[in-house]
Amino acid sequence: MNHDLSERALILAPVGRDARVAAGMLAETGIASTVCADIAGLVAELDQGAGLALVTEEALLTSDLRPLRQWIGRQPPWSDFGFVLLTRRGGGLERNPAAARYLEMLGNVAFLERPFHPTTLVSIVQATVRGRRRQYEARARLEELRQSENRYRRIVDGAEDFAIVSLDENGIVTSWNTGAARITEYAEGEAVGRAGDFIFTPQDRAAGVPEGERRYAREHGRAVDERWHLKKSGERFWGAGVLIPLDIEQGGYLKVFRDGTAEHEADLAIRRLNESLEERVQARTAELEQAQEALRHSQKMEAIGTLTGGVAHDFNNLLTPIVGSLDMLQRRIGSERESRLIAGALQSAERAQVLVHRLLAFARRQPLQARSVDLAGLVRGMADLVDSTSGPRVNVGLAIPTDLPPVHIDPHQFEMAILNLAVNARDAMPGGGTLTISASAETIVAGENPELCPGSYIHVRVADTGQGMDEATLARAIEPFFSTKGIGQGTGLGLSMVHGLAAQLGGAMAISSKLGEGTRIDMWLPVSADEVAVEGGPVEHPSEDHAGTVLLVDDEPLIRMSTADMLEDLGYTVREAGSGEAALETIAAGLRPDLLITDHLMPGMTGTELAARVREALPLTPILLISGYADADGIAPGMPRLTKPFRERDLIQMVTDLVGAGTGA
Ligand SMILES: Nc1ncnc2c1ncn2[C@@H]1O[C@H](COP(=O)(O)OP(=O)(O)OP(=O)(O)O)[C@@H](O)[C@H]1O
Ligand SMILES: [Mg+2]
Repeated sequence: MNHDLSERALILAPVGRDARVAAGMLAETGIASTVCADIAGLVAELDQGAGLALVTEEALLTSDLRPLRQWIGRQPPWSDFGFVLLTRRGGGLERNPAAARYLEMLGNVAFLERPFHPTTLVSIVQATVRGRRRQYEARARLEELRQSENRYRRIVDGAEDFAIVSLDENGIVTSWNTGAARITEYAEGEAVGRAGDFIFTPQDRAAGVPEGERRYAREHGRAVDERWHLKKSGERFWGAGVLIPLDIEQGGYLKVFRDGTAEHEADLAIRRLNESLEERVQARTAELEQAQEALRHSQKMEAIGTLTGGVAHDFNNLLTPIVGSLDMLQRRIGSERESRLIAGALQSAERAQVLVHRLLAFARRQPLQARSVDLAGLVRGMADLVDSTSGPRVNVGLAIPTDLPPVHIDPHQFEMAILNLAVNARDAMPGGGTLTISASAETIVAGENPELCPGSYIHVRVADTGQGMDEATLARAIEPFFSTKGIGQGTGLGLSMVHGLAAQLGGAMAISSKLGEGTRIDMWLPVSADEVAVEGGPVEHPSEDHAGTVLLVDDEPLIRMSTADMLEDLGYTVREAGSGEAALETIAAGLRPDLLITDHLMPGMTGTELAARVREALPLTPILLISGYADADGIAPGMPRLTKPFRERDLIQMVTDLVGAGTGA
């Protein structure tokens, strides 16, 4: 507004020279003035701006004052326009009822009675102008305030990512910025005037969280608000912000928050990941420890196996001639006392042989004669044996379906295994109980059992209701020579044998047992791809007619002698040779044996090499190879073979088979 206009005096004094006189007085003190002709003119000038108005009472008396009254009423809040009213002599307020009305209408008015001293007029006018200046200052401050509020509004509204909300002391929303509307989906109109609790979850509302937050903010200067809130759509968002109390007089609160859902969820995910990582690390560590334990165990078993295997093998070689000779002697010696002694010696030797067999089985070095076997038939066939072995107090149950596929096992060794388990079960049930042998077909998939290749198996289970094993016993049960049975009671080789056998057959064995809750032995045996082999008929002593000439080759004279004796007993004529070379010479000299029996491992030419040479000269002559346990390498799989040590009956069986086959060809 123009400065000249804003401090000028407007003079309304239509009668006489009043206006000019007053204007002159004011001009002397530097106050510009504009003389107005009537009320309408005054109001028009007022609209232009002025510092005060000097009005004579007469000017008001006869005029329509409504435009002036309206102008006064229209003033902005900062403005209280000042009037100086020149009254007539004796027109003091107390005696002049009209003056009271003017006071009410004009509001900010000073009365000045005529005639007045010029100084009085000037000082009143100056005071009024000063008052007007203060109003202008107030106007400027108000303007400033308005501008800063506008700025603040723009900032608050521009902060779209932040909800800035003010609440009164009762928690009613008084302002709601664009950010709040964007985050909560509630428009300003929907939020203002409402209790601010509506963005809290029903659970938090029920628990009094909003009030608690306000109380906390009052007491501590601020309250952190980090929790799930609800949008208008019902979707939740993670509000992260603070509630701050406004100053005491004003009351109320300011709440600032943002939508921290994404970060919070990332946080949660990281936390979950951390937790699950820890779990996974723990699980992996446990697995690793288990694997290491299993490795240690299997290494120990391997070492024991190698050791026992070597010892057993040597023992076996020693036993061969002992058993052979005793067997022969038994059939030769007439006196009863002598034959009793020999029978005793033979019995001991046979016990030793059983031991050695078990050791070799554990070391997986027994020669297996695995073939396709009908397991159901086999187990059923030995039910009586198991029954009588277990004794009258043990109830034996079989649960074996008849339609099982054939298994690839050595039937004889498998029977031994079942008997071993049955004896263990019996020993664990001194007061009686139940022994169950069950079997079922099972397909093992990759990763299911580390000891088994994926494929088809028959799962055989021997379970008892006996005393079970404690953890220490269970951990060592398959160790060779581990036995809880007294000295002389158990060799500790039963389970070792079963374990070794299952592994050697390409299967596995597992023990589960709890003290007082019985024991379960599980065996997995590979299913055979072949048909079940038809068992040969009963072994018969060959008649004299079948006898012929045998060429017997062995570098060990003792073994050769005992074998020759057995063969002679069977009615054969035996030609002995101490080496492969010697044997070939005999053939070259014209011998046409009905059967060639040769040791495998000999200095110079091996039995297998000899067999190949003989095959060339005499393709139809049956050949039987005799081998120890460890020296079976290099023997063709189809080659008929007898393993040391063997009894006469084993030899009869083989010879009968071979010669029968040879003559039949
Ligand atoms: N069915 C079972 N119930 C409870 N404990 C058993 C069972 N089978 C084996 N054990 C425990 O495992 C140990 C080892 O068994 P293993 O068959 O290898 O040897 P053994 O039975 O002691 O001797 P042997 O088999 O030569 O008679 C046993 O001494 C016994 O403590
Ligand atoms: Mg046993």
